[in-house]
Amino acid sequence: MMEEVVAGLRLSAVLFFALIPHPSLADGDAAKGEGVFQNRCVECHAVTGDQVKIGPPLTGLFGRVSGSWPGFAYSDAMKAAGIVWGAETLTQYLPNPRAMVPKTKMNFNGLKRPGEVEDLIAYLAAATTN
Ligand code: HEC
Repeated sequence: MMEEVVAGLRLSAVLFFALIPHPSLADGDAAKGEGVFQNRCVECHAVTGDQVKIGPPLTGLFGRVSGSWPGFAYSDAMKAAGIVWGAETLTQYLPNPRAMVPKTKMNFNGLKRPGEVEDLIAYLAAATTN
């Protein structure tokens, strides 16, 4: 009897952790994030394809190493940063890019409103997969 209770508790604990996705993705609203992207990022970045604007395309961003879009003229700072882009690193970067990558040439002060970063990441996770 006791063993069954312990096994049951273990199973609940495993399910509890397995069923909770990463908070930055879970909390975000991709539809709102698309609005953030259109207002704040689209002038410099594409999310699919290989169009280079002022910044590199964000195509396939999740899992990409910083400074690695072929042919884009990155700053030395971004090339040397060695960041793997994903929900956690974007959560750190987007509120204040220059705090994470001093001397980046991304001319953007950062997203300051509560919820914007989570919404944008939810959008990017879905939109940059091609
Ligand atoms: C004024 C143009 C501009 C705006 C606005 C801008 N970026 Fe950038 N972004 C750049 C440039 C230029 C780089 C390359 C930076 C470097 O080489 O230091 C860059 C780099 C990046 C990178 C790293 C890409 C890589 O290949 O390593 C990410 C991620 C990124 N931007 C996301 C965003 C997001 C999301 C937004 C909107 C919140 C945004 N950027 C707004 C110009 C911009």
